[in-house]
Amino acid sequence: MNSHDDLLKKFETDLNAITTLEEYQRLETNYLGRNGSINQELKKIKDLSVEARREFGEAVNKIKQDIEQQLSLKKQALLTTETLLIDVTLPGTPYPKGSLHMVTLAIEEISRIFEHIGFIRMSYPEIEWEHFSFETLNMPKDHPARDDFETFFVNAPPHKTYGKMVLSPHTSSGQNREMLRVGKPPIRMINIAKCYRPNWDATHVPMFHQFEGVCIDESVTITHLKGTIDYFAKEFFGEKRETRLRPFHFQFTEPSFEVDITCDVCDGTGYVSSVIPSASEESSQRRNALLDPSLIVQDDKVKCKVCKSGWLELGGAGMIHPNVLTAGNIDPEKYTGWAFGIGVERVMMMKGGINLDDLRIMYSGDVRFLEQF
Ligand code: PHE
Repeated sequence: MNSHDDLLKKFETDLNAITTLEEYQRLETNYLGRNGSINQELKKIKDLSVEARREFGEAVNKIKQDIEQQLSLKKQALLTTETLLIDVTLPGTPYPKGSLHMVTLAIEEISRIFEHIGFIRMSYPEIEWEHFSFETLNMPKDHPARDDFETFFVNAPPHKTYGKMVLSPHTSSGQNREMLRVGKPPIRMINIAKCYRPNWDATHVPMFHQFEGVCIDESVTITHLKGTIDYFAKEFFGEKRETRLRPFHFQFTEPSFEVDITCDVCDGTGYVSSVIPSASEESSQRRNALLDPSLIVQDDKVKCKVCKSGWLELGGAGMIHPNVLTAGNIDPEKYTGWAFGIGVERVMMMKGGINLDDLRIMYSGDVRFLEQF
């Protein structure tokens, strides 16, 4: 056997061993490439005698053709099997999609709930005058109640009648504007907007959202207020949640209330059963080490950490003060009305199952968190 037969034999062994297109490429280069075996053979020609060259050249060319033919057949075969391995019925890889922020979703849900019962969605300025944020809400200049609404002031020249420019600290700033816009009651407005106060901790961010309901007509009473808040609570949080009005003080409502809702964690009872039962002395010690001892009432009865004896605070509400109606050109002798203001981020934290212990994460821009909503 001469060296050309050996070369062809070696090629055939190599060819049989390959199973992928990638291996095929390598094999093709090894034999037919610039530095491949065939070119190496052809380079030998120059060392041969003139007579021998012709025969040698023909022999190498023959092997070359043989190799090319076999390679081409192999390529066809590999292409067919590799194509068959691709299952065209498999679903493609989805592109990552953006989505609405959880606060935007909550705002849409809140608007829908109130639009169902005839409330008109409004937005009033985020950058507001003191006049609308305070004066028309029965909080004259230097009134200490203004301190309750710690405020960002805008560094701009004050207005002759409207006073300084502020970042609206609550959606109540829209009350007077809505009264002036509508003119004559009935008024049923839901104002959802950004509010600003200089606080930053686990339950406060300096920019947050409130939704403010205002209802003014003849013979509007607290019963309507309670009914509307109950309706919202059941729609937004679920059938089993209850609300209550607790006496409070706001300058722009009389009487005023804080609105509470039953806690989802303890079902409004104020107690949860301990996750670690105190069946033995040892397990009781373990539980005591984990829990604040002041929370333990007896055996496996433990005070709920999330709420205050079964209730969570939702926001403020009350019957609109006669001075506020008057400032909006509405006759308090003829009309009555109520208003409430509730935090959007707050209601989201209280929604069952969300389990959010730090509000600030909502604005961290962390998609690993945001993707879950
Ligand atoms: N504006 C009040 C606040 O931000 C809430 C409120 C709104 C209270 C309407 C009564 C009536 O705390």
